[in-house]
Amino acid sequence: MTMPAPERLLDVKGLSIEIDTRRGPATIVDGINLHVNKGETLGIVGESGCGKSLTMLSLMRLLPNKIKVKSGTANFAGRDLLTMSKSELRKVRGGQVGFVFQDPMTSLNPVMRIGDQICEPLIYHKNMKRSDARIRATELLRLVGIPSPAERLDAFPHELSGGMRQRVMIAIGLACDPELLIADEPTTALDVTIQAQIVDLVKELRVKLGMSVVWITHDLALIAGLVDRVAVLYAGTVVEDAPVEELFARPSHPYTRGLLASIPKLSDVAANRLSSIGGTPPEPGRRPQGCPFAPRCQLAEDICRQSVPPLEPLGGSGPHRVACFVAQRQLEAA
Ligand SMILES: Nc1ncnc2c1ncn2[C@@H]1O[C@H](COP(=O)(O)OP(=O)(O)OP(=O)(O)O)[C@@H](O)[C@H]1O
Ligand SMILES: [Mg+2]
Repeated sequence: MTMPAPERLLDVKGLSIEIDTRRGPATIVDGINLHVNKGETLGIVGESGCGKSLTMLSLMRLLPNKIKVKSGTANFAGRDLLTMSKSELRKVRGGQVGFVFQDPMTSLNPVMRIGDQICEPLIYHKNMKRSDARIRATELLRLVGIPSPAERLDAFPHELSGGMRQRVMIAIGLACDPELLIADEPTTALDVTIQAQIVDLVKELRVKLGMSVVWITHDLALIAGLVDRVAVLYAGTVVEDAPVEELFARPSHPYTRGLLASIPKLSDVAANRLSSIGGTPPEPGRRPQGCPFAPRCQLAEDICRQSVPPLEPLGGSGPHRVACFVAQRQLEAA
């Protein structure tokens, strides 16, 4: 008996993002394909500057000046986030989709008390009375581990530490029981115990609400215990996408192997093949013609420098997909 295909809550296809430079438009994100199934937690990993934040900001139509979506679709629960009306989008943003931004200092309003910032989505999306919203806001602050939560409601962002602000962002992201939570490096400023507490909270809400999650991070060790599937980004493209155990057991893209090798003892096989990744990713506007990783890849061949490898199932079928000519051929030969 075949299992029915899982329902895709978010389905991003062919998303490209450009920046206007003095020398003309330059591609930053190049044809990303990503999806999140209902109830699934997707981890997104990749080194600094690979386009993780811009990809997620584009879905909420919050790209900075001079940076634009060039092409693609982002279907959320049957509607395209990239083309829906502003008023529809306002209903989705902060309601059905909760967002935790990477930088709390620029995304929290500095002149608004944090209690009001948490109450705002509750009043707007859930039609709560102010008094009920404050009760819920206190509860949310308690859930994210903020001591004396009722007293903290009246604080301004600058009166809180970086870790506290990050927890306030998480509280706002979770406020309206979202169907999808997009969390961009949400725990980087937190110490390990609080981080574990947040991870447990998110796991609990997944069960309780059937919430889907996109969790962006550099921290592969954290991802191992949290996510169902991992998409590896390199220079604005997905180079590998696999269930988490499969990715750790059989990393197939040379870039993924390099990433995993940087965590000691996680995968001896990977460590033997590529102990560190030399070089730097291409700058926007200076993308190579073929595989964007080819200039740094010890296994690159002529074809890698000529054409962009498509993201295809490893060995022809299954959920493990990789965009690498060499990895695909090695499997065929095995
Ligand atoms: N406001 C901006 N103006 C110009 N370039 C930008 C801006 N924001 C991002 N970029 C460029 O776009 C690329 C992708 O940035 P993005 O913030 O998405 O990376 P990231 O993967 O989230 O990195 P990090 O792990 O450091 O958060 C980078 O090369 C970055 O320099
Ligand atoms: Mg980022």
